[in-house]
Amino acid sequence: MLSVADLRKEFGGLVAVDDVNFEIGRGEIVGLIGPNGAGKTTLFNSITGVLQPENGSQVTFDGTDIVALETHDIARRGLVRTFQIVRVFDEMTVFENVMTGALFGTDESISQEEAEERAHDALAFIGLAEKAELTTGNLPIAQKKQLELARALASRPNLLLLDEIASGLTPGEIADLTDTIRRLRDERGISVFWIEHIMDAIMGVADRIIVLNSGRKLAEGTPAEIRDDQAVVEAYLGDEA
Ligand SMILES: Nc1ncnc2c1ncn2[C@@H]1O[C@H](COP(=O)(O)OP(=O)(O)OP(=O)(O)O)[C@@H](O)[C@H]1O
Ligand SMILES: [Mg+2]
Repeated sequence: MLSVADLRKEFGGLVAVDDVNFEIGRGEIVGLIGPNGAGKTTLFNSITGVLQPENGSQVTFDGTDIVALETHDIARRGLVRTFQIVRVFDEMTVFENVMTGALFGTDESISQEEAEERAHDALAFIGLAEKAELTTGNLPIAQKKQLELARALASRPNLLLLDEIASGLTPGEIADLTDTIRRLRDERGISVFWIEHIMDAIMGVADRIIVLNSGRKLAEGTPAEIRDDQAVVEAYLGDEA
């Protein structure tokens, strides 16, 4: 459903993403790992229209060339992301935050009533229903991350891009989150492309792992193949993040 070819993004003289190629199929959970500064977030930003990649980069989503589209237009087509640093509206309630996802999601002509239904459904699915009327700013980080996921779900995505959604969580919280992500795929048919430093989280749930190093794709394979890959092990030496 997502096809990326020769994706390149430079910042001045720095090649942050260096001619990367890969595909993500329907119903897949794909992990994206790599040392700090490898270009993972830049890759996400280049796919989702936050950054404009270099000429010659190709990004196709469900058969449509999305490389020149803007973020909101890409989200309307069902490609939705969360951010490495949570971006929820602190002054709004949890429910209001999720409503923004429902209203700006894949259905342009959604009614207020339908949007509210989707927001409630998303909160229940993620396990945040009891927190709906709380002010978001007061939530602990784990719940803010759940909220980002609920908001993304309320927009009815086909492919969800998650940027380090497990960082800063306790092992128990990570296990719950991983379970939720698996259920998003199994029960809602949502494909997931997930950047994560926490290996236990990503290795347990991903069908396939892509490794970036210095902007280049270093390896791609099943979690077991990646664990045994000598080049991957070397790339991580001195980077215990
Ligand atoms: N807006 C920017 N302007 C200039 N350089 C940038 C910009 N964004 C990222 N970079 C640089 O591009 C490289 C890749 O950064 P990126 O944030 O994509 O890495 P990452 O793999 O997400 O790292 P981390 O695991 O630490 O989040 C780094 O060298 C970074 O300093
Ligand atoms: Mg990053």
